[in-house]
Amino acid sequence: MDKVDADRIEDIEIRLLLEGVFQRYRYDFRDYAIPSLRRRISEAMESEKVGSVSALQERVLRDSTCMERLLLTLSINVSDMYRDPGFFRAFREKVVPLLRTYPFARVWHAGCSTGEEVYSMAILLIEEGLYDRSRIYATDINGPVLKTAEAGIYPIKVMKKHTKNYIAAGGKREFSEYYTASHDHAVLDPALRENIVFAEHNLACEGSFNEFQVILCRNVMIYFNRALQGQVLRLFDESLCPFGVIGLGDKESLSHDAIAAGYRPIDARHRLYQRKH
Ligand SMILES: C[S@@+](CC[C@H](N)C(=O)[O-])C[C@H]1O[C@@H](n2cnc3c(N)ncnc32)[C@H](O)[C@@H]1O
Repeated sequence: MDKVDADRIEDIEIRLLLEGVFQRYRYDFRDYAIPSLRRRISEAMESEKVGSVSALQERVLRDSTCMERLLLTLSINVSDMYRDPGFFRAFREKVVPLLRTYPFARVWHAGCSTGEEVYSMAILLIEEGLYDRSRIYATDINGPVLKTAEAGIYPIKVMKKHTKNYIAAGGKREFSEYYTASHDHAVLDPALRENIVFAEHNLACEGSFNEFQVILCRNVMIYFNRALQGQVLRLFDESLCPFGVIGLGDKESLSHDAIAAGYRPIDARHRLYQRKH
């Protein structure tokens, strides 16, 4: 068998694996971008010590702990507080004035992973005097990472980087005011969590659950194929209030999508877009 045939067979096996995962566990990775899926699945094959995608499929379907491990591999969970600090600086300068015009603001972090981005927003809203009239909805497909998000406890060694990002993002206080060090961990102030709701939500197959003034979905759609990106952007479009704001990751954009005509860039470089009406 030549390489082209081998690759074709592997793509068929990947599609069967993803269909099996969907049928058995209702996790839907069928419309994720293929190149990144190939890399993740081959990582999973290595760590499960199986020689083919079909062998991985057999194990995943029969063993739910293997599915939990595969979920962690497929749903890439890296995050940072004030990731891309320029985004948060632009948010503070250009979106906060809009939020001041609302009596109450609902912010949806779709694909919030382990919560760093959500706490970054809570701190920003506290510093701008808006947190008391805001509610943050933090959702992700992955239950275990949401538990980490809810706990708000992070390794102390990453706080140096988070502090640097916080300052670059225009933070107004000492970052250390927001956590206490306990052994090798930083425990975030529980007051930051007061207006945050954490919930499992799958962007690939679930609908909207509220109307939002802001929707942030950063570094999530980059793993989806074009069709799923369009479907999720439509979901956001339906879930935003008039003149609401969408924020995306630095490698993501609205500009190629059908909904783009209904939005104007507030800050194109930092991927912040506002509904025109
Ligand atoms: C790379 S993280 C991004 C975290 C954060 N938004 C940031 O930019 O730092 C991507 C997250 O998207 C989540 N995700 C992937 N597919 C999803 C889906 N279909 N529905 C909801 N969340 C999903 C993953 O579980 C993961 O936690």
